[in-house]
Amino acid sequence: MVVQDVLVIGSGIAGLSYALKIANQYPEAKIKIVTKGNEDETNTKYAQGGVAVVTDFIQDSFEKHIEDTLIAGDGSCKLAAVEVVVKEAPERIKEIVDWGVRFDKNPEGLYDLGREGGHTENRIVHHKDITGREIERAMLETIKKITNVEILTHHFVVDLITEHHLGLDLKDEVTCYGAYILDIESQTIIRQLSKVTLLATGGVGHVYKNTTNPIIATGDGIGLAIRAGASVSRMQFIQFHPTAFYSEFDGQLFLISEAVRGFGAKLRTKDGNLFMHKYDEREELASRDILARAIDNEMKLRGDDYVYIDCRHLDQEKFLEHFPNIYKKCKIEGYDMFTELVPVVPASHYLCGGIDADLDGKTSIENLFAVGECSNSGLHGANRLASNSLLEAMVFGHRSAVKSVQLLQKNEFKINNHQFPEWNAEGTQLQDELVLISYFRKQMQAMMSELVGIVRSNSRLIMAQKRIIEIEKMVKEIYDFSVISPKLLELRNLVNVAQLIIEQSIAQQENKGTFYNKDL
Ligand code: FAD
Ligand code: SIN
Repeated sequence: MVVQDVLVIGSGIAGLSYALKIANQYPEAKIKIVTKGNEDETNTKYAQGGVAVVTDFIQDSFEKHIEDTLIAGDGSCKLAAVEVVVKEAPERIKEIVDWGVRFDKNPEGLYDLGREGGHTENRIVHHKDITGREIERAMLETIKKITNVEILTHHFVVDLITEHHLGLDLKDEVTCYGAYILDIESQTIIRQLSKVTLLATGGVGHVYKNTTNPIIATGDGIGLAIRAGASVSRMQFIQFHPTAFYSEFDGQLFLISEAVRGFGAKLRTKDGNLFMHKYDEREELASRDILARAIDNEMKLRGDDYVYIDCRHLDQEKFLEHFPNIYKKCKIEGYDMFTELVPVVPASHYLCGGIDADLDGKTSIENLFAVGECSNSGLHGANRLASNSLLEAMVFGHRSAVKSVQLLQKNEFKINNHQFPEWNAEGTQLQDELVLISYFRKQMQAMMSELVGIVRSNSRLIMAQKRIIEIEKMVKEIYDFSVISPKLLELRNLVNVAQLIIEQSIAQQENKGTFYNKDL
């Protein structure tokens, strides 16, 4: 029985920060990182705007960043988490710069600080409009130099291993002992035991039809946590990004960064009128929940499918310096941002809640940590402030690593006392009806977008609950009799996640941040 010291599920900023910090602090630890796709296929890679951090202590301050985060979170943030993240940010930024991340600088040699919605100061460090790609590149390059870290790509985690696999039905004090992992290429299931496990599996964007998230964002970590009995909360707080490029041809959405509005872009209805002044005095720089609802309302009032973002008045040279990739992508789609209005829609973007984790990243399950978008650290409350997410992953990646190293050094693990079974695939058959899997996925996405989207209502939520129970039952039937595949596993996780979003939306009795029920 091979027992790993540390199993890291996910190779985005959360998983890589954590692994790098453990490797630095406890070089003898054997660390395995598994990821279901290519090593860099993560939400992290697509981050555009950058990382919020106070670096200019004359104009800006920790107090202001804390205040902006609390206001965006609409009174629902955990103050201790906000303070920890904001105050530890400069140290974490210094570290990733040491790992090779290049943030843009101005001619004076200081960070070129961008501005985004909800921030009262310019405080976003960035690498052009592809900050995430730069972070992912540098971190992967750094981690590959460390011999004790192994990265397994195309390995899909199916379930966490807990006492339940010994036939014990514990209610409290459940411990995580690793995970069952599907090696996608060989189609075998590995029983990977580990002393400490990290969930760093990212977001849930694909619960909805329109999302800014890449294909990996199917809420797998949250599905794993729910089934293992971990505490998961604030799932009702789904952030919709106001400005995803709208394609008439149903193509892949891409983000038009908030930083573009920070740079001065305006929003207009299809008939050309400005409208944000009607909703908030900060206009285009109001927080995302306000913008997404305003756009949704304008579209519904007019029966339009999109609004426009207007960049025609902006300095072209500076715009190209900051946003070369966004400009290029729009051009490929047939829009010149300097002469034309570009159609945009809100799209599901970020999960503010998730697996409950304390200030050390510890979940309610022993030896299981959660960091990054899959976690609920309390930082975001009911609505995340732009560019606080990459930062959250770095800060809690570090803190969880410190805690994990303490555990590893104490070495009081009971893992060797148990005989966990190998994966049992008895009674399953090869699934030739892939069409059913994609049918239920589309049904669930359409239902969630129509009934559990930006604006919810009591009757829509009750209807959604009935429908998700039916879908869950049918998916379970398919799951129980099929040889598992990534598509089927993703569907199972998406449905588990959707169910919890609906349940927790029904329980939410006050409109807050991203959550809006028109009957409250
Ligand atoms: P991810 O980076 O998503 O990594 C998840 C990892 O888990 C992947 O490796 C995935 O393959 C793996 N995984 C998932 N399920 C399984 C499984 N079952 N088995 C094995 N592996 C699995 N935030 C900011 O702060 N600033 C920004 O500018 C910004 N811009 C954004 C732009 C876009 C278009 C998007 C989509 C998000 C943006 N965000 C931004 C949000 C931010 O990028 C994410 O919240 C953050 O990158 C999440 O990091 P993570 O490490 O938690 O997860
Ligand atoms: C963006 O660039 O608009 C995304 C920033 C974020 O999600 O924090």
